[in-house]
Amino acid sequence: MDNPPPPAITYTAAGLATVVLILLSRRLFSRKLKLPPGPKPWPIIGNFNLIGPLPHRSLHELAKKYGPIMQIKFGSIPVVVGSSAEVAEAILKTHDISLADRPKIAAGKYTTYNYSDITWSQYGPYWSHLRKFCNMEIFSPKRLDFYQHVRVEELHSLLRSLYKTSGTPFKTREKFSDLSLSVISRLVLGRNYTLESEKGKGVYTPHEFKKILDELFVLNGVLEIGDWIPWLSYFDLQGNIKKMKAVAKKVDRFIEHELEEHDARRNGVKNYVAKDMMDILLQLSDDPSLDVEFGRTGVKALTLDLIAGGTESSAVTVEWAISEILRKPEVFEKATEELDRVIGRERWVEEKDMVNLPYIYAIAKEVMRLHPVAPMLVPRAAREDINVNGYDIKKGSRVLVNVWTIGRDPKVWDKPDEFCPERFIGNSIDVRGHDYELLPFGAGRRMCPGYPLGLKEVGWYTAAAD
Ligand code: HEM
Repeated sequence: MDNPPPPAITYTAAGLATVVLILLSRRLFSRKLKLPPGPKPWPIIGNFNLIGPLPHRSLHELAKKYGPIMQIKFGSIPVVVGSSAEVAEAILKTHDISLADRPKIAAGKYTTYNYSDITWSQYGPYWSHLRKFCNMEIFSPKRLDFYQHVRVEELHSLLRSLYKTSGTPFKTREKFSDLSLSVISRLVLGRNYTLESEKGKGVYTPHEFKKILDELFVLNGVLEIGDWIPWLSYFDLQGNIKKMKAVAKKVDRFIEHELEEHDARRNGVKNYVAKDMMDILLQLSDDPSLDVEFGRTGVKALTLDLIAGGTESSAVTVEWAISEILRKPEVFEKATEELDRVIGRERWVEEKDMVNLPYIYAIAKEVMRLHPVAPMLVPRAAREDINVNGYDIKKGSRVLVNVWTIGRDPKVWDKPDEFCPERFIGNSIDVRGHDYELLPFGAGRRMCPGYPLGLKEVGWYTAAAD
């Protein structure tokens, strides 16, 4: 008679059989995932080979082939892209909470105080406190009205300087980004950070400061390879991480200096009345009744968010408006006719006039349809496994909404590539996040909190430029 096998072999065989059974039953009983359609990814690089220097345009072309919801891979990470108003609504409204995280990318870590700002912080109590604070203390109608004189003074100062130097060529973007920076720096820091006369009061000259902000914008928009192929981040192949750390240091030096000045002003003063947003933020960080720790880092990160978010977006949009108007003399004529009729030539156009200037507002909307500042919004990340329009999206996937494509969808827009403000006359489609065919500020929980200010600036500056 054969000897029985030794016990170790028996246990190993039984263990193996169990593993095989579990794997088989998983295969048999688990539902096969139905992922959105998309191109087959390569090992390591995924579908990076299909993405050109303007990623929204490459994704626009891919959507023509794979449809309004597709999945591609950037490196090893699945990226779901929505390219129709219907899918945008599913992502930003129906599944808003499940998709309310931001991916943890290097720019958020190194340039915004380890994800402590609004833009890159994860969905949760900290983020929701910052948002609430912004809505109530910074962008509420009352607060925006209170600071209206700042916007008026700064716009008039720009118009006066343009008048004085008329005939001399100038760069539109520079003038309008200076204007936005003047406004936002006065609101947030209580001082105009673009004036040469302010030289010596801060740690940088206005010119140096603008250069730092430019660097920050560029680094927040780069395609950092380590964000998509995580094991490569250690090597910093493109040198971006080094640059991010360097610019973060410069930014911190600037904000620390401002904080110290604000602290000195407040210290020892009983019932101190806040004079600007940094004062309000510091009061908030002192508030012991808050259930979320905000701290000095929170003050710094939010200050940076406001200055960075409030500087370029309106300026870029107004620059596009001017270039589109100059290309179409008939639009220029109609806009001038409306301004002459409603305002006349005896006074400047004011913010409150905007409600009576439907054609100017239509120009602003048409510019934002064709040239959204963030063509794919800011990426979101899935907080759980979900099903969107019949397709499975795995937790951790990144989600983009290509508003550039949606703004050009021929099923929604007649002659979509043409600049035609008339399409918005007698049409109720608006930009405030309820009409998913037009989303320059995004929609849902992560929608731009600065849109009330951004919209005022874009409409009014466009009217003034005309
Ligand atoms: C024309 C002007 C502006 C445009 C077109 C614009 C556009 C956007 C867009 C598309 C987003 C992403 C929304 C999403 O992911 O769904 C965003 C987010 C944001 N914007 Fe704006 N923005 C403008 C002005 C401003 C201003 C003036 C500020 C502040 C002073 C600001 C601060 C922010 C912040 C903090 C976020 C992040 C929100 C979050 O993640 O919760 N923006 N903006």
